[in-house]
Amino acid sequence: MNLQEEALLDYCGRHSSAEPEWLRNCNRKTHLKHINPRMLSGHIQGRLLSFLCSLLKPSLVLDIGTFTGYSAMCLAEGLAPGGKVITLEEDVELERSISENIGASPYANCIEMVFIDALAWLKEHPQLQPELVYLDADKKRYAQYLEVLLPMLPPNSLLIADNTLWSGKVLDAGTAAGDADTAAIDQFNKLLAAQQKMEVFMLPLRDGLTIARKKP
Ligand SMILES: C[S@@+](CC[C@H](N)C(=O)[O-])C[C@H]1O[C@@H](n2cnc3c(N)ncnc32)[C@H](O)[C@@H]1O
Repeated sequence: MNLQEEALLDYCGRHSSAEPEWLRNCNRKTHLKHINPRMLSGHIQGRLLSFLCSLLKPSLVLDIGTFTGYSAMCLAEGLAPGGKVITLEEDVELERSISENIGASPYANCIEMVFIDALAWLKEHPQLQPELVYLDADKKRYAQYLEVLLPMLPPNSLLIADNTLWSGKVLDAGTAAGDADTAAIDQFNKLLAAQQKMEVFMLPLRDGLTIARKKP
């Protein structure tokens, strides 16, 4: 993001609903203690996740790529009573931060943490029918995640994928300037846009956020 984009995002943040205190603390602690704090979805995107989830009121949400727990807690805000978020993370060194952050929120009882390779875990749970999936883990395998997730998604469910503009590099895909990560994201974008059973749109929010709905 350039300076003007950052300033506009900051302006949007100041004119949107505030982060609850536990999310503000998670955001701050992540910036103090972790490498690459920008991986965290952040205020605006987090409010959008919470907003969409609240409209849907799902019983089961999959959060793929926990990091420090920010997106899992945003999604938990919109669950149906008795619903749960399963959040998948492969880096066990994050366990302490995640537990502390989620433990300080009102959602400790409805967020289940699983430390595992998310793609392998999904392949072992094809029977699950998540009404909302937030895909925010290893970008190189987004197309493989899509292949596994598509049959799992029930009608009217949402698949939300982060980083789908890849710092704007998707415009270089297929050219000499394009790298392997860019090619993988571009492949995912093309595959998803071609799905007849999905209604898809890309938002140029932060690093690109794709929101897709399984048609009834
Ligand atoms: C961009 S961060 C997630 C940010 C988080 N969704 C949020 O909004 O705060 C991506 C996370 O995915 C994790 N990750 C990467 N590959 C993974 C995999 N194969 N399985 C599970 N987690 C993975 C990384 O360790 C990292 O913590």
